Amino acid sequence: MIVLGIESSCDETAAAIVNSEGKILANILRSQISDHQLYGGVVPEIAARSHLEHLDRIIFTAMEKADISFNQLGGIAATAGPGLIGAVMVGLMTGKAIAATFQKPLIALNHLEGHALSPRLTDKEVTFPYLLLLVSGGHCQLLIVNGVGKYERLGTTIDDAPGEAFDKVAKLLGLGYPGGPAIERAAILGNPKSFKLPTPLKGRKGCDFSFSGLKTAVYQLIQKIKVKTGELEEQHKFDIASSFQHAVCEVMINRTTHALDKYRKVCQIGGHLVVAGGVAANSELRKSLKGLAHESNIRLSIPHPSLCTDNGAMIAWAGIERLKLGLVDGYDFAPKARWPLDPKAGRPLGMGKPGKLGMKA
Ligand code: KG4
Ligand code: ZN
Repeated sequence: MIVLGIESSCDETAAAIVNSEGKILANILRSQISDHQLYGGVVPEIAARSHLEHLDRIIFTAMEKADISFNQLGGIAATAGPGLIGAVMVGLMTGKAIAATFQKPLIALNHLEGHALSPRLTDKEVTFPYLLLLVSGGHCQLLIVNGVGKYERLGTTIDDAPGEAFDKVAKLLGLGYPGGPAIERAAILGNPKSFKLPTPLKGRKGCDFSFSGLKTAVYQLIQKIKVKTGELEEQHKFDIASSFQHAVCEVMINRTTHALDKYRKVCQIGGHLVVAGGVAANSELRKSLKGLAHESNIRLSIPHPSLCTDNGAMIAWAGIERLKLGLVDGYDFAPKARWPLDPKAGRPLGMGKPGKLGMKA
């Protein structure tokens, strides 16, 4: 079985062809970084228009690279949310059009499920149930993955996502966009112990996260240095990036340790700790989690950095996992801006009341 995966939930226009053995026959991606760089962040309207302009070409390139025709496809998987609604609509509608034209099954995929199942694409030993740390630009969750579509959320962020914090701190330091890789590069030249930054919720009970206080602390630190020295020197930037990255890793390790205790009640021996999402591309975080997995005697599986950040292969693979179970969707499936993996999970303590726009996914 061969599936075409289409991803357009944020600022990556992507299409991939994957077969049921997990072979990636093509994985084509166009990053919109240059379209948004001027604004220091993703502009939803520009993202949607850019997907519209490039998606057809990206899909045809993937089909050509895989050397197959649309008729040979077993199904079309397209991200149907959560994400920027205009951007999601472009990919989902394109997927529907191809599925309808060639009379193929459509899988309207939850983008987070794409990340959640991505480690099973490259590591065949990852079996259910596994513990998942999902860390991206819009999400931060610890979940037990009991099966396809079966997620139990143990913790989530009560405010910002870590990728968002990386992006904001990089902006404050003038390191450019996207922030994650920029902070990682700067951090190599800095000392992680230069500044003592807060590690929100570290040591507190539970598996929830918080990053807004850390972001504010970096802002205040920058102001303090500027008052003292007039400007932020390069070395200050490197040291702040390094200290910030260190604080994020400390929080991640602490919260994941708590989640491991809960996971051990479900899976006493063996099992896997799996990490996915854009922030999982961070090498310092990968190193810290390797240490934790070693100490906790659990196998760790983190996809290659190129499969951690948004891509079409993870969508195609999750489509295959769903197709194998006969889980397909109608052409009337509506795109969703918010779409939690575990709809039964309540609001975490400290998140505050929902605003006019409703709950966070
Ligand atoms: O999963 P992803 O590509 O998109 C979402 O679904 O959000 O994640 C994007 C996020 C961005 O915030 C980006 O700054 C962050 O992942 N990121 C990183 C790294 N590479 C990407 N954060 C830290 N270190 C990295 N190397
Ligand atoms: Zn993502």
